[in-house]
Amino acid sequence: MQSASNILFLHAFNPISMELYTKRLDIEQEVARLKNENLSIGFVPTMGALHKGHLALVKEALCNNDIVFVSIFVNPTQFNNAEDLEKYPRTLEADLKLLSDLSSSIKVFAPNPTEVYNGEMKVISYDFEGLEYEMEGKFRPGHFDGVGTVVKHLFNIIQPDNAYFGEKDYQQLQIVKKLVDIEKLSVNVIGCPIYREDSGLALSSRNKRLSKSQLEASPKIYKVLKEVKEDFGTKSVKWLNDWVSDQFKNDSELKLEYFEIADANNLKSVERRDTGLKYRAFIAVFAGEVRLIDNIALN
Ligand code: PAF
Repeated sequence: MQSASNILFLHAFNPISMELYTKRLDIEQEVARLKNENLSIGFVPTMGALHKGHLALVKEALCNNDIVFVSIFVNPTQFNNAEDLEKYPRTLEADLKLLSDLSSSIKVFAPNPTEVYNGEMKVISYDFEGLEYEMEGKFRPGHFDGVGTVVKHLFNIIQPDNAYFGEKDYQQLQIVKKLVDIEKLSVNVIGCPIYREDSGLALSSRNKRLSKSQLEASPKIYKVLKEVKEDFGTKSVKWLNDWVSDQFKNDSELKLEYFEIADANNLKSVERRDTGLKYRAFIAVFAGEVRLIDNIALN
């Protein structure tokens, strides 16, 4: 085994045994070794605080690759709100336990920013052909440059054949596909379905910050999306936009930030539907200080 610190002791009777890399050089050596053996590499990039949605991505990766890497790195450059970055849940020990329960063969990369950014935390300014200015891009300026930059670094380090992203961040998924084109990377980017609580709430690391009453209120987000999907064939886009705003007008727990029906390819908001195009509805809601996003395919 290379110089990874490969054994972690959670506590005396509950040892976790898995490869954990914190240094870029160590993981690069391991990747070179695996490439030399012609093994396929699957990669799930995460910011930790792992939940069943992440684990579903890891399971998918385990089924379709010889080796699976998971990165756990809260990327500072994609946060445009210092408080959100500070409060982002960090639960490394619990994350490692969840992963090792799934498979002790998973290789984890949990670096600090210096390792990922090679010393200098420079953000690349990308032209994602307009995808970056829609929805999340409007409300989180610079966010997608941060995502693009970190994903580029992580892809360069891990050199995956396949990389797995959840459709909850559908815009991010489209951006990463565009990044792969722009940077001419040979990574197959795979989108996986949104994982939901029984209540319908989309799983997110941020859900850990919800109060009891916010948690009880938030299934409404998916309920509204499902009703929009049901009515999409018969009601106009304007009617649906107004209806969604009304649903949140007097809500004491949830504040609507945006709702949009958009072309699923270029993510441009639409006013009417055309035949032959795919549409999705996108929503962002604040539950107190916690920002929740969700989306649904409409046709
Ligand atoms: O979706 C996330 O958790 C992050 O945006 C990602 C892709 C790991 C990049 O930091």
